[in-house]
Parts: sequence; structure tokens; C-alpha cells
Amino acid sequence: MRSAGKPAGLAPPLPKGHPRGDRRVFQPWPNESRTMTKPVYVLNGPNLNLLGKRQPHIYGRDTLADVEAACRETAAAFGFEVRFHQSNAEHEIIGWIHEARETAVGLVINPAAFSHTSIAILDALNACDFPVFEVHVTNVHRREPFRHRSYVSLRADGVIAGFGIEGYALALRRLGTLLGKDA
Ligand code: DQA
Repeated sequence: MRSAGKPAGLAPPLPKGHPRGDRRVFQPWPNESRTMTKPVYVLNGPNLNLLGKRQPHIYGRDTLADVEAACRETAAAFGFEVRFHQSNAEHEIIGWIHEARETAVGLVINPAAFSHTSIAILDALNACDFPVFEVHVTNVHRREPFRHRSYVSLRADGVIAGFGIEGYALALRRLGTLLGKDA
């Protein structure tokens, strides 16, 4: 039977002067923030939604869903939480970089064709303090000359090109090493 005046399931108020009594935010597990997984952003640029379908002789048969699954598997081994996105719109990618800037511990990006054109994506990445890795499924240096220059490479801490979709997992492994996470 519930006693009158005392809501069920709630602990009695802390006495005045108690060290936890004047916390502004209720924290049932005070050390929770130390053990929580931190997000890593994996961003994909234009046309990568067609991975596995467009020009498979160049980009292979693996799909973006395969990329996402591989990223989630590798990231989980390092205790990262993955925020995985793809867009054909430059402004959306920039928006996710701004979001990552506030919350993420690292970022892996395949900017696709925006690599070769987008000063705006470079500027957004330059506003971030965490490690950034650039991934290309193909070896862009063996392809047309316009693919040899990447604005994103001017900011990236590392670039992986030509390892197929395995490049994403390699980039995440490197993030794990840099951030001191065990596999
Ligand atoms: C790509 C290479 C870019 O040059 C191209 O525009 C892409 C994909 C790659 O993953 O190999 O769309 O980034």
C-alpha cells in the first residue's frame, strides 16, 4: 500500500548540505559520461547511394549498405558509435560536419566528386579539431587528372584510396589507434 503524500518509486529528497543535493542535473550514475561511447561520423558524398549499381567495373559490387555494415562492425570493436550519412547535396554534408564538430571524436569522409570541387567542405572540416580521414573506393591517382586533386586532402590527417570499401574500416581502425581504443 502506498503511503499518502510520497510519490511511488522516488527516493526521498537529499538533506540540505548533502554533496549531491545541489546538483543542477539529476545524474543517477555520476560516472556515466566516462563510459559512454562517443560518436564517429562516416559521411558519403554524391552518387555513393548508387554504389554497387553504377559502373561496377570501377567501383565494384559492394553497396552503401555493405559499407555501413562494415563501418558499424569495425566501430563497435573500438567502442565507437557510428553516425552514417550519405547525401547528393553539398549543404547537407556541411550540416553534418557542423553537427560532428559539436559532438564527434572523429570523422571519416568519402566526399566523392565534392573532393575535387568543394572549398566549402574543406572550410567546414577546417573548423573541426578531431581527426579526419578521407576515403576513396578507387585509386583516384590512377584515374582522370581532375580526380588527382582533392580539397579535402588539404585537411585530412590521412587518405585511403583504392582499397575498395575496406578503406572505410581501415580509416576507423586508425581512428581507434589515435584515440587509444582497444579492438
Ligand atoms: C570516389 C572517387 C571520386 O573521384 C568520384 O567522384 C566518386 C567516388 C571513390 O570513392 O573512388 O564519386 O570518391
